[in-house]
Amino acid sequence: MILLVKSGGEAAVPEWRSHFAAAAPQLDVRWFDDPSVDPADVRYVLVWEPTPGRLAMLPNLRLICSSGAGVDHILADPTVPRHVPILRVGNDEARQRMGEYVSLACLSLLRDMKRVVTAQAVRRWDNFDPDRTAAEMRVGILGLGNMGVRTAGMLRGLGFAVSGWTRTPRAVPGVDCHTGPAGRDKVLRGADILVNLLPDTAETRGAIDAAALARLPAGAGVVNAGRGPQLVIPDLIAALDSGQLSGAVLDVFDTEPLPADSPLWTHPKIIVSAHIASNSSRRSRAYYVADAIAAFERGETLPAMYDPVRGY
Ligand code: NDP
Ligand code: OXD
Repeated sequence: MILLVKSGGEAAVPEWRSHFAAAAPQLDVRWFDDPSVDPADVRYVLVWEPTPGRLAMLPNLRLICSSGAGVDHILADPTVPRHVPILRVGNDEARQRMGEYVSLACLSLLRDMKRVVTAQAVRRWDNFDPDRTAAEMRVGILGLGNMGVRTAGMLRGLGFAVSGWTRTPRAVPGVDCHTGPAGRDKVLRGADILVNLLPDTAETRGAIDAAALARLPAGAGVVNAGRGPQLVIPDLIAALDSGQLSGAVLDVFDTEPLPADSPLWTHPKIIVSAHIASNSSRRSRAYYVADAIAAFERGETLPAMYDPVRGY
């Protein structure tokens, strides 16, 4: 059974092949654009940003495996065959790494790590006290799904109080959970740090704008590890420059890689990372996809499937 892979470029194929050889030896792992593959023989693909038009050329495709938790990079291609189900990354390592990233980001905002590394760059001994401890702060998380729930637990472990906002009602131990516009307002108004972990949908695009940022307490921080288009960058910069916000940690952007001329690179209150928040190892993703394909072949329901009705 052929599995075409496009994740990490052609150079990553030998590594994917070696992990799949251990996890699912029956899969014949090939580079996405391997000219020797007959499109009719392809049953499965594992992809990040598949070349537009290519998936529609695979007549016997049974399952599209996203190499990430989001599927926006697949659905950006309007020709993607809509009858083929899409599996999203939902492995434990990805959750753990997201929790680690957001914890690091929140602690960086709490302890002003941007100031620390800026002082180091100019050999300045900058001895300063933080205003508060984690125990005096609340983090508001937009999106308490696979990534958000683990993240909330790790933030609780650090001493932060945590609130969360979801589309449907959720009960997460130790987390003050909300839904709907009034619930979102409550989460925003209480968030000393706002963390975005929402999927990219028509409803979430542009949702973190000037009006949303103005609801945060004065001096709040923002972490965006969801998707770039959800955060309105000019509004973020205005809020940082006016002092309404104290800092931001950004992992995702409208255009990736972030263009060299973006003002985000040099803003004194912004930390930029290159979409690394929850990158799980190829080994763990290969095992996750291998298990999912085996379950799919047995006709079982898979855990983290894209739902076209919800849009994520
Ligand atoms: P899930 O589907 O498990 O969770 C999504 C959460 O968002 C759910 O709690 C869902 O609510 C909530 N949500 C969705 N739409 C709305 C809405 N309109 N209003 C309120 N809440 C909403 O996804 P994951 O946790 O696995 O991933 C979330 C996103 O994080 C991904 O789609 C991706 O964009 C981003 N991501 C980024 C990574 C990075 O490296 N930067 C890595 C992994 C993910 P409900 O519980 O009611 O369904
Ligand atoms: C994503 C991921 O969807 O890295 O961003 O998993």
